[in-house]
Amino acid sequence: MNSSNARITAIGSYVPEKRLTNHHLEELVDTNDEWIVQRTGIKERRIAADNEYTSDISIKAVENLMARYQKTVEDVDMIIVCTMTPDFKTPSVSALVQAKLGIKNTGAIDLNAACAGFAYGMHVANGLVSAGLHKKILVIGAETFSKILDYTDRTTCILFGDGGGAVLVEYDELHPSFIASHMGTDGVLGKNLYCTDLSASMFGEDLPVNGFIAQNGREVYKWAVNTVPKGMEALMEKTDLELNEVDWFVPHSANLRIIESICSRSKFPLERAIYSLEHYGNTSAATIPLSLDKGVQEGKFKTGDSLLLYGFGGGLTQAGLLINWTL
Ligand code: UT7
Repeated sequence: MNSSNARITAIGSYVPEKRLTNHHLEELVDTNDEWIVQRTGIKERRIAADNEYTSDISIKAVENLMARYQKTVEDVDMIIVCTMTPDFKTPSVSALVQAKLGIKNTGAIDLNAACAGFAYGMHVANGLVSAGLHKKILVIGAETFSKILDYTDRTTCILFGDGGGAVLVEYDELHPSFIASHMGTDGVLGKNLYCTDLSASMFGEDLPVNGFIAQNGREVYKWAVNTVPKGMEALMEKTDLELNEVDWFVPHSANLRIIESICSRSKFPLERAIYSLEHYGNTSAATIPLSLDKGVQEGKFKTGDSLLLYGFGGGLTQAGLLINWTL
Protein backbone atom coordinates (compact mmCIF):
# COMPACT_ATOMS: atom_id res chain seq x y z
CA MET A 1 0.00 0.00 0.00
CA ASN A 2 1.27 3.52 -0.86
CA SER A 3 1.65 6.16 1.81
CA SER A 4 -0.10 9.31 0.72
CA ASN A 5 -0.34 12.81 2.21
CA ALA A 6 -2.59 14.14 -0.53
CA ARG A 7 -6.31 14.80 -0.41
CA ILE A 8 -8.85 15.63 -3.11
CA THR A 9 -10.57 18.75 -1.78
CA ALA A 10 -12.78 20.01 -4.61
CA ILE A 11 -14.12 19.12 -8.04
CA GLY A 12 -15.68 21.03 -10.94
CA SER A 13 -16.56 20.44 -14.57
CA TYR A 14 -17.68 22.09 -17.77
CA VAL A 15 -19.05 20.91 -21.11
CA PRO A 16 -19.69 23.07 -24.18
CA GLU A 17 -23.27 24.05 -24.92
CA LYS A 18 -23.63 22.55 -28.39
CA ARG A 19 -25.16 19.05 -28.42
CA LEU A 20 -24.46 16.66 -31.29
CA THR A 21 -26.98 13.82 -31.12
CA ASN A 22 -26.82 10.48 -32.91
CA HIS A 23 -29.63 11.75 -35.13
CA HIS A 24 -27.50 14.75 -36.13
CA LEU A 25 -24.72 12.33 -37.06
CA GLU A 26 -27.11 10.39 -39.30
CA GLU A 27 -27.09 13.49 -41.52
CA LEU A 28 -23.27 13.56 -41.70
CA VAL A 29 -22.26 9.90 -42.17
CA ASP A 30 -23.81 6.54 -42.99
CA THR A 31 -24.82 5.57 -39.45
CA ASN A 32 -27.90 5.39 -37.27
CA ASP A 33 -28.92 5.96 -33.66
CA GLU A 34 -29.70 2.28 -33.11
CA TRP A 35 -26.21 1.15 -34.23
CA ILE A 36 -24.43 3.76 -32.11
CA VAL A 37 -26.49 3.07 -28.96
CA GLN A 38 -26.27 -0.69 -29.37
CA ARG A 39 -22.49 -0.73 -30.01
CA THR A 40 -21.43 2.07 -27.66
CA GLY A 41 -24.22 3.30 -25.34
CA ILE A 42 -23.59 6.89 -26.54
CA LYS A 43 -26.65 9.06 -27.31
CA GLU A 44 -25.12 12.51 -27.73
CA ARG A 45 -21.91 14.43 -27.18
CA ARG A 46 -20.95 18.09 -26.67
CA ILE A 47 -19.02 20.03 -29.29
CA ALA A 48 -16.87 23.10 -28.61
CA ALA A 49 -17.65 26.34 -30.44
CA ASP A 50 -15.26 27.24 -33.30
CA ASN A 51 -13.41 29.69 -31.03
CA GLU A 52 -13.52 27.47 -27.93
CA TYR A 53 -10.40 25.44 -27.12
CA THR A 54 -9.11 23.11 -24.42
CA SER A 55 -7.77 26.02 -22.33
CA ASP A 56 -11.25 27.65 -22.33
CA ILE A 57 -12.85 24.40 -21.19
CA SER A 58 -10.17 23.91 -18.51
CA ILE A 59 -10.69 27.41 -17.11
CA LYS A 60 -14.47 27.02 -16.98
CA ALA A 61 -14.08 23.70 -15.13
CA VAL A 62 -11.82 25.41 -12.56
CA GLU A 63 -14.27 28.33 -12.21
CA ASN A 64 -17.04 25.81 -11.56
CA LEU A 65 -14.88 24.13 -8.89
CA MET A 66 -14.12 27.47 -7.20
CA ALA A 67 -17.77 28.52 -7.14
CA ARG A 68 -19.02 25.24 -5.71
CA TYR A 69 -16.38 24.70 -3.03
CA GLN A 70 -15.52 28.33 -2.15
CA LYS A 71 -11.92 27.56 -3.06
CA THR A 72 -9.30 30.00 -4.27
CA VAL A 73 -6.59 28.91 -6.65
CA GLU A 74 -4.16 31.80 -6.20
CA ASP A 75 -1.99 29.64 -3.91
CA VAL A 76 -1.92 26.67 -6.30
CA ASP A 77 1.74 25.71 -6.80
CA MET A 78 1.39 23.28 -9.73
CA ILE A 79 -1.06 23.01 -12.61
CA ILE A 80 -1.28 19.70 -14.46
CA VAL A 81 -3.50 19.68 -17.54
CA CYS A 82 -4.10 16.19 -18.92
CA THR A 83 -4.97 16.45 -22.59
CA MET A 84 -4.08 15.25 -26.07
CA THR A 85 -5.88 18.15 -27.77
CA PRO A 86 -3.92 21.24 -26.62
CA ASP A 87 -4.67 24.65 -28.15
CA PHE A 88 -1.03 24.89 -29.32
CA LYS A 89 2.13 22.77 -29.37
CA THR A 90 3.48 25.57 -27.21
CA PRO A 91 2.55 27.36 -24.98
CA SER A 92 1.00 24.53 -23.00
CA VAL A 93 -2.65 24.53 -21.93
CA SER A 94 -1.47 24.67 -18.31
CA ALA A 95 0.48 27.88 -19.03
CA LEU A 96 -2.64 29.40 -20.61
CA VAL A 97 -4.65 28.38 -17.53
CA GLN A 98 -2.01 29.97 -15.28
CA ALA A 99 -2.20 33.21 -17.27
CA LYS A 100 -5.97 33.44 -17.47
CA LEU A 101 -6.52 32.57 -13.80
CA GLY A 102 -3.64 34.87 -12.72
CA ILE A 103 -1.98 32.24 -10.52
CA LYS A 104 1.34 33.87 -9.62
CA ASN A 105 3.68 31.25 -8.17
CA THR A 106 3.03 27.96 -9.87
CA GLY A 107 4.61 25.36 -12.10
CA ALA A 108 2.59 24.33 -15.14
CA ILE A 109 2.82 21.13 -17.19
CA ASP A 110 0.68 19.34 -19.74
CA LEU A 111 0.51 15.57 -19.54
CA ASN A 112 -0.41 13.45 -22.55
CA ALA A 113 -1.41 9.89 -21.77
CA ALA A 114 -4.49 10.06 -24.01
CA CYS A 115 -7.57 8.54 -22.36
CA ALA A 116 -5.51 7.41 -19.35
CA GLY A 117 -4.31 11.00 -18.86
CA PHE A 118 -6.39 12.03 -15.88
CA ALA A 119 -5.52 8.90 -13.87
CA TYR A 120 -1.84 9.55 -14.63
CA GLY A 121 -2.24 13.22 -13.68
CA MET A 122 -3.75 12.29 -10.32
CA HIS A 123 -0.95 9.77 -9.74
CA VAL A 124 1.68 12.47 -10.43
CA ALA A 125 -0.15 15.00 -8.22
CA ASN A 126 -0.33 12.51 -5.37
CA GLY A 127 3.40 11.80 -5.73
CA LEU A 128 4.39 15.48 -5.77
CA VAL A 129 2.22 16.42 -2.80
CA SER A 130 3.03 13.31 -0.76
CA ALA A 131 6.76 13.88 -1.31
CA GLY A 132 6.36 17.38 0.11
CA LEU A 133 7.35 19.06 -3.18
CA HIS A 134 4.02 20.82 -3.69
CA LYS A 135 1.10 21.73 -1.47
CA LYS A 136 -1.83 22.48 -3.75
CA ILE A 137 -2.17 21.09 -7.27
CA LEU A 138 -4.85 21.67 -9.87
CA VAL A 139 -5.36 18.53 -11.96
CA ILE A 140 -7.45 19.12 -15.05
CA GLY A 141 -8.60 16.59 -17.67
CA ALA A 142 -9.90 18.48 -20.71
CA GLU A 143 -10.29 17.82 -24.42
CA THR A 144 -11.64 19.30 -27.63
CA PHE A 145 -11.70 16.12 -29.69
CA SER A 146 -14.07 17.70 -32.20
CA LYS A 147 -11.02 19.63 -33.50
CA ILE A 148 -9.23 16.38 -34.51
CA LEU A 149 -12.23 14.40 -35.79
CA ASP A 150 -12.92 13.69 -39.43
CA TYR A 151 -16.70 14.12 -39.66
CA THR A 152 -16.74 11.94 -42.79
CA ASP A 153 -15.27 8.95 -40.87
CA ARG A 154 -18.09 7.08 -39.16
CA THR A 155 -15.70 4.81 -37.26
CA THR A 156 -14.45 7.72 -35.12
CA CYS A 157 -16.76 10.76 -35.32
CA ILE A 158 -19.61 8.95 -33.55
CA LEU A 159 -17.49 8.18 -30.51
CA PHE A 160 -15.81 11.33 -29.25
CA GLY A 161 -16.90 14.61 -27.65
CA ASP A 162 -15.57 17.66 -25.81
CA GLY A 163 -15.53 18.60 -22.13
CA GLY A 164 -13.42 18.89 -19.01
CA GLY A 165 -13.17 18.37 -15.28
CA ALA A 166 -10.86 19.73 -12.60
CA VAL A 167 -9.90 18.65 -9.10
CA LEU A 168 -7.76 20.15 -6.37
CA VAL A 169 -5.22 17.91 -4.65
CA GLU A 170 -3.91 19.38 -1.40
CA TYR A 171 -1.47 18.37 1.32
CA ASP A 172 -3.25 16.55 4.17
CA GLU A 173 -1.45 13.89 6.16
CA LEU A 174 -4.51 13.04 8.27
CA HIS A 175 -7.08 12.34 5.55
CA PRO A 176 -5.29 11.22 2.39
CA SER A 177 -7.33 10.18 -0.63
CA PHE A 178 -4.87 7.95 -2.44
CA ILE A 179 -4.64 4.27 -1.51
CA ALA A 180 -2.85 2.49 -4.38
CA SER A 181 -2.05 2.72 -8.08
CA HIS A 182 -1.19 0.49 -11.03
CA MET A 183 0.16 1.61 -14.42
CA GLY A 184 1.02 -0.15 -17.66
CA THR A 185 2.00 0.58 -21.26
CA ASP A 186 1.85 -1.50 -24.46
CA GLY A 187 3.63 0.89 -26.83
CA VAL A 188 3.95 -1.77 -29.50
CA LEU A 189 0.15 -1.56 -29.93
CA GLY A 190 0.25 2.24 -30.35
CA LYS A 191 -0.50 2.00 -34.08
CA ASN A 192 -4.07 0.96 -33.19
CA LEU A 193 -4.95 4.49 -32.04
CA TYR A 194 -3.12 7.50 -33.41
CA CYS A 195 -3.32 11.11 -34.53
CA THR A 196 -0.51 11.98 -36.94
CA ASP A 197 1.00 15.41 -37.10
CA LEU A 198 4.71 15.46 -37.91
CA SER A 199 5.85 11.90 -38.53
CA ALA A 200 4.22 9.61 -41.07
CA SER A 201 5.89 6.45 -39.91
CA MET A 202 5.41 4.39 -36.75
CA PHE A 203 7.72 1.40 -36.22
CA GLY A 204 8.36 1.46 -39.97
CA GLU A 205 4.68 1.47 -40.92
CA ASP A 206 3.37 4.39 -43.02
CA LEU A 207 0.38 6.31 -41.67
CA PRO A 208 -1.63 9.17 -43.20
CA VAL A 209 -0.56 12.62 -41.91
CA ASN A 210 -3.80 14.55 -41.66
CA GLY A 211 -4.22 15.63 -38.04
CA PHE A 212 -7.25 13.38 -37.54
CA ILE A 213 -7.68 10.67 -34.92
CA ALA A 214 -7.74 7.17 -36.40
CA GLN A 215 -8.08 3.81 -34.75
CA ASN A 216 -8.51 0.10 -35.16
CA GLY A 217 -11.52 -0.04 -32.85
CA ARG A 218 -11.70 -3.83 -32.68
CA GLU A 219 -8.07 -4.12 -31.54
CA VAL A 220 -8.42 -1.36 -28.93
CA TYR A 221 -11.63 -3.00 -27.69
CA LYS A 222 -9.99 -6.42 -27.35
CA TRP A 223 -6.94 -4.95 -25.62
CA ALA A 224 -9.08 -2.97 -23.15
CA VAL A 225 -11.35 -5.81 -22.08
CA ASN A 226 -8.37 -8.15 -21.62
CA THR A 227 -5.97 -5.71 -19.99
CA VAL A 228 -8.09 -3.64 -17.62
CA PRO A 229 -9.49 -6.53 -15.51
CA LYS A 230 -5.93 -7.83 -15.01
CA GLY A 231 -4.79 -4.32 -14.06
CA MET A 232 -7.65 -4.01 -11.57
CA GLU A 233 -6.59 -7.30 -10.02
CA ALA A 234 -2.96 -6.14 -9.79
CA LEU A 235 -4.12 -2.87 -8.22
CA MET A 236 -6.27 -4.58 -5.60
CA GLU A 237 -3.36 -6.87 -4.66
CA LYS A 238 -1.56 -3.74 -3.40
CA THR A 239 -4.39 -3.03 -0.94
CA ASP A 240 -6.12 -4.66 2.03
CA LEU A 241 -9.44 -4.63 0.16
CA GLU A 242 -11.08 -7.16 -2.14
CA LEU A 243 -12.54 -5.86 -5.39
CA ASN A 244 -16.08 -6.70 -4.22
CA GLU A 245 -15.55 -4.35 -1.25
CA VAL A 246 -14.90 -1.37 -3.55
CA ASP A 247 -17.90 0.99 -3.51
CA TRP A 248 -17.67 2.53 -6.98
CA PHE A 249 -15.91 1.78 -10.26
CA VAL A 250 -15.13 4.87 -12.37
CA PRO A 251 -13.68 3.56 -15.65
CA HIS A 252 -12.71 5.58 -18.71
CA SER A 253 -16.00 6.14 -20.57
CA ALA A 254 -15.01 4.91 -24.04
CA ASN A 255 -17.84 2.54 -24.71
CA LEU A 256 -20.54 1.03 -22.48
CA ARG A 257 -19.92 -2.42 -24.00
CA ILE A 258 -16.28 -2.23 -22.84
CA ILE A 259 -17.41 -1.25 -19.32
CA GLU A 260 -19.97 -4.09 -19.26
CA SER A 261 -17.35 -6.58 -20.36
CA ILE A 262 -14.79 -5.37 -17.79
CA CYS A 263 -17.43 -5.57 -15.03
CA SER A 264 -18.52 -9.02 -16.12
CA ARG A 265 -14.92 -10.34 -16.34
CA SER A 266 -14.09 -8.78 -12.94
CA LYS A 267 -17.39 -9.88 -11.37
CA PHE A 268 -18.05 -6.28 -10.36
CA PRO A 269 -21.71 -5.11 -10.44
CA LEU A 270 -22.38 -2.77 -13.35
CA GLU A 271 -24.81 -0.79 -11.14
CA ARG A 272 -21.79 0.43 -9.15
CA ALA A 273 -19.99 1.70 -12.26
CA ILE A 274 -20.21 5.45 -12.91
CA TYR A 275 -19.73 6.62 -16.50
CA SER A 276 -20.28 9.79 -18.48
CA LEU A 277 -20.53 8.51 -22.05
CA GLU A 278 -24.31 8.49 -22.54
CA HIS A 279 -24.55 12.29 -22.87
CA TYR A 280 -20.91 13.29 -23.44
CA GLY A 281 -19.43 10.46 -25.54
CA ASN A 282 -15.77 9.55 -25.18
CA THR A 283 -14.07 12.74 -23.94
CA SER A 284 -10.68 11.00 -23.49
CA ALA A 285 -8.79 12.50 -20.51
CA ALA A 286 -12.00 14.24 -19.39
CA THR A 287 -14.21 11.16 -18.99
CA ILE A 288 -13.09 10.23 -15.48
CA PRO A 289 -13.40 13.72 -13.92
CA LEU A 290 -16.76 14.17 -15.70
CA SER A 291 -17.93 10.82 -14.28
CA LEU A 292 -16.63 11.72 -10.82
CA ASP A 293 -18.52 14.99 -10.94
CA LYS A 294 -21.65 13.19 -12.13
CA GLY A 295 -21.35 10.86 -9.11
CA VAL A 296 -21.04 13.90 -6.84
CA GLN A 297 -23.98 15.77 -8.41
CA GLU A 298 -26.17 12.68 -8.19
CA GLY A 299 -25.24 12.24 -4.52
CA LYS A 300 -23.77 8.78 -5.13
CA PHE A 301 -20.48 9.08 -3.22
CA LYS A 302 -20.31 9.23 0.58
CA THR A 303 -17.22 10.42 2.45
CA GLY A 304 -15.07 7.35 3.04
CA ASP A 305 -16.32 5.43 -0.01
CA SER A 306 -13.64 3.62 -1.99
CA LEU A 307 -13.48 4.43 -5.70
CA LEU A 308 -11.56 2.52 -8.34
CA LEU A 309 -10.60 4.85 -11.22
CA TYR A 310 -9.25 3.20 -14.39
CA GLY A 311 -8.07 5.02 -17.49
CA PHE A 312 -7.01 3.27 -20.72
CA GLY A 313 -6.44 4.23 -24.34
CA GLY A 314 -3.92 5.71 -26.79
CA GLY A 315 -0.34 4.69 -26.24
CA LEU A 316 -1.65 2.14 -25.51
CA THR A 317 -1.55 3.14 -21.87
CA GLN A 318 -3.49 2.25 -18.75
CA ALA A 319 -3.59 3.66 -15.23
CA GLY A 320 -5.66 2.59 -12.24
CA LEU A 321 -6.06 4.29 -8.88
CA LEU A 322 -7.85 3.23 -5.74
CA ILE A 323 -8.94 6.32 -3.83
CA ASN A 324 -10.78 7.11 -0.68
CA TRP A 325 -13.51 9.68 -1.39
CA THR A 326 -12.80 12.65 0.86
CA LEU A 327 -15.32 15.29 -0.20
O1 UT7 B 1 -10.71 5.77 -25.56
C1 UT7 B 1 -10.18 4.64 -26.17
C2 UT7 B 1 -10.44 4.85 -27.59
N1 UT7 B 1 -11.09 3.88 -28.35
C3 UT7 B 1 -11.94 2.92 -27.95
O2 UT7 B 1 -12.19 2.64 -26.83
C4 UT7 B 1 -12.59 2.16 -29.06
C5 UT7 B 1 -12.80 0.73 -28.74
N2 UT7 B 1 -13.59 0.11 -29.78
C6 UT7 B 1 -14.93 0.27 -29.88
O3 UT7 B 1 -15.53 0.95 -29.07
C7 UT7 B 1 -15.66 -0.47 -30.96
O4 UT7 B 1 -14.74 -1.29 -31.65
C8 UT7 B 1 -16.37 0.48 -31.98
C9 UT7 B 1 -17.57 1.13 -31.32
C10 UT7 B 1 -15.40 1.53 -32.49
C11 UT7 B 1 -16.89 -0.33 -33.18
O5 UT7 B 1 -17.77 -1.33 -32.73
P1 UT7 B 1 -17.60 -2.82 -33.22
O6 UT7 B 1 -18.68 -3.60 -32.62
O7 UT7 B 1 -16.18 -3.24 -32.92
O8 UT7 B 1 -17.84 -2.69 -34.78
P2 UT7 B 1 -16.86 -3.09 -35.98
O9 UT7 B 1 -15.75 -2.08 -36.12
O10 UT7 B 1 -16.48 -4.54 -35.88
O11 UT7 B 1 -17.83 -2.90 -37.22
C12 UT7 B 1 -19.00 -3.71 -37.38
C13 UT7 B 1 -19.74 -3.22 -38.61
C14 UT7 B 1 -18.86 -3.06 -39.85
O12 UT7 B 1 -19.63 -3.42 -40.97
P3 UT7 B 1 -19.48 -4.87 -41.65
O13 UT7 B 1 -18.05 -4.97 -42.05
O14 UT7 B 1 -19.87 -5.85 -40.58
O15 UT7 B 1 -20.44 -4.81 -42.79
C15 UT7 B 1 -18.58 -1.58 -39.89
O16 UT7 B 1 -18.31 -1.11 -41.19
O17 UT7 B 1 -20.31 -1.93 -38.36
C16 UT7 B 1 -19.90 -1.02 -39.38
N3 UT7 B 1 -19.75 0.31 -38.78
C17 UT7 B 1 -20.80 1.14 -38.63
N4 UT7 B 1 -22.09 1.03 -38.95
C18 UT7 B 1 -22.90 2.07 -38.65
C19 UT7 B 1 -18.65 0.89 -38.27
N5 UT7 B 1 -18.94 2.11 -37.78
C20 UT7 B 1 -20.28 2.28 -38.00
C21 UT7 B 1 -21.17 3.33 -37.71
N6 UT7 B 1 -22.47 3.17 -38.04
N7 UT7 B 1 -20.76 4.46 -37.10
